[in-house]
Amino acid sequence: MHKDQWFKNMVKKFVLGLSAMVLLNGCFSSKKEKKANIETVTQKTSTSAAKAPKADVPPYMAKGAKIYKQVCLTCHQANGGGVSGLNAPLAKADFVLGDKTRLLEIIFKGSEAGLKVNNSEYANLMPGYGMLGDEEIASVASYIRNSFGNKAEPVTIEEVASYRAAIKK
Ligand code: HEC
Repeated sequence: MHKDQWFKNMVKKFVLGLSAMVLLNGCFSSKKEKKANIETVTQKTSTSAAKAPKADVPPYMAKGAKIYKQVCLTCHQANGGGVSGLNAPLAKADFVLGDKTRLLEIIFKGSEAGLKVNNSEYANLMPGYGMLGDEEIASVASYIRNSFGNKAEPVTIEEVASYRAAIKK
């Protein structure tokens, strides 16, 4: 940039800044000022949001809910009830609440075994989701173990990682 032009710009900025300061009483409102105000407001909101006391919800619930919506919901439905005769329910299902390794096996490898869940079989097949990351699988597994009326110990990232390592051997 040419030196003169640079100097002009600096003067312009300085004058703008000065007028903003001097004419704060409402009769002057430049775009810059408005933008600055908006910034202060958003800053305030985000700080207060960060400070707001969150209900005692473990972090995997939000992550797991997101993955559940993206990946599992189409078949297992929003309430985890599945689709009668087609997709097995996750609510009150022993495969979800019971042994973690068996649950991980289903999530990693899927199943076309025709599992008997809550006294029924389901015609559809369950694809495997081993391509998801350890944290994603841990979150969604923990989420389904603690949603739809289910309550069971969460699955940790370490447990998923060691399961993955074991099936790679
Ligand atoms: C394409 C449809 C489909 C998708 C998507 C799907 N599932 Fe399944 N799922 C099924 C079917 C069908 C079965 C029953 C399989 C069988 O009978 O062998 C099943 C079974 C299961 C089971 C064991 C049986 C039970 O109901 O407890 C679990 C646990 C499970 N799915 C979890 C998940 C999770 C977690 C996701 C998302 C990461 C997911 N599924 C995505 C169709 C699906």
